Amino acid sequence: MPRANPFQIHGLARGPFFTDRAAELRAAAHALRTPGEKLLVIGPRRTGKSSLLAEAADRARRAGVAVLEADLSTAGTVADVGTRLLDAAVRTLGRRWTDAVSTFAARVTPGVRLVPGPHGLPAASLDVSLRDAPAAEQQRSLETVLDTIADLARAKKRPVAIVMDEFQRIGTVGGEEAEWHLRGVVQRHDAVSYLFAGSELGLIARMTGPGGAFYELLTPLEVGAIEPAHFAAWIDDRMRAVGLRPERGVAEQVLALTGDRTRDVVLLAHHTVEAARATGTRVTAAQVEAAFAAVVAEQDPQWTGRWSELTAGMQQVLRAVAVGAAGLTTAAMRREFGLGPTGTVTNMAAALVARDVLVRDAAAPTGYRFDSPYFRGWVLGRALPDLGRHVPVTATTS
Ligand SMILES: Nc1ncnc2c1ncn2[C@@H]1O[C@H](COP(=O)(O)OP(=O)(O)OP(=O)(O)O)[C@@H](O)[C@H]1O
Ligand SMILES: [Mg+2]
Repeated sequence: MPRANPFQIHGLARGPFFTDRAAELRAAAHALRTPGEKLLVIGPRRTGKSSLLAEAADRARRAGVAVLEADLSTAGTVADVGTRLLDAAVRTLGRRWTDAVSTFAARVTPGVRLVPGPHGLPAASLDVSLRDAPAAEQQRSLETVLDTIADLARAKKRPVAIVMDEFQRIGTVGGEEAEWHLRGVVQRHDAVSYLFAGSELGLIARMTGPGGAFYELLTPLEVGAIEPAHFAAWIDDRMRAVGLRPERGVAEQVLALTGDRTRDVVLLAHHTVEAARATGTRVTAAQVEAAFAAVVAEQDPQWTGRWSELTAGMQQVLRAVAVGAAGLTTAAMRREFGLGPTGTVTNMAAALVARDVLVRDAAAPTGYRFDSPYFRGWVLGRALPDLGRHVPVTATTS
């Protein structure tokens, strides 16, 4: 039987699939063990925040902490947020304390629905009618769930931690009013610790900045790029551990083609292993390039869809960012790509940043780079030929 691919691309990176982050893990696990702590794990998309949260939660559990994990990324109402937390609380605390489930059922209104769930514990939700209830009522239910968790922690004298991934959803679904309400609740809970995380950096900056609901409440913990030399050595080790023989520079090339987002790097490493295994045990630079092109091709429907949502002007800005050698508003670039007046170009670039297609990057020739290296590859391969230009999807220099 072939050995499993040493790079995991679905779900969270755990155990041997997880590398680095020693300091961040220590800080997060410490916060989870310390009642009253309120930590905010913040970082760009696809850097590994959720994986870090899960690893830190495991570590804290081994130290005896009851850790409730709620992922708010799909919540559509404040009631949904309440359900996520209630369900996590019933599953986690119900396992430890037999009276926990009945405590929630007795206290939370308008009603708690319990159905048989996995592992013999009930799956809990707030009454579905609450989703259409007035905002204040939804907030009250969420508050009762959190208060009950805090009261149980105090009564049982055991550390309890609440993890909320993509916590900024509370503002998206409930507006600033729900943000301020959540602040009020979290602020008075000193018997539990809170660990928040999120990737919508603009939104989080507003929520945590002066005048924002979470201003000076949360201790920030930034998760950035894994240090390149460490990452390259790890990629090399993981390949060797399954019997592959990467040529010198293969891991560095994976990094050069993908950039600083953990998931983008691991995705290419994964596909490179697949490509290498098709031919033997050597891993070559050519296979890294072929794997990159294969990922771009595989993601074609996604990028075609993304592209078609943009105006012709924005599309042209993307072509310019993909290959441009100078600032977008320079006369040379505007002439080369027919970009129009500088004000318009600047506005379109800002709109692309707001849509998470581009990120500002002072070190890049145009002042911007693509959020995804694979979207850039797609633009090179599929959209640059519209201008009669042909550049390999793996071209790294702009
Ligand atoms: N510490 C790590 N070591 C190795 N791979 C990692 C690590 N962290 C993340 N990854 C890789 O990145 C992928 C995405 O990780 P994760 O979901 O934790 O990131 P995230 O920052 O929460 O992303 P999102 O912005 O989408 O919420 C994982 O599936 C895994 O392939
Ligand atoms: Mg995440």
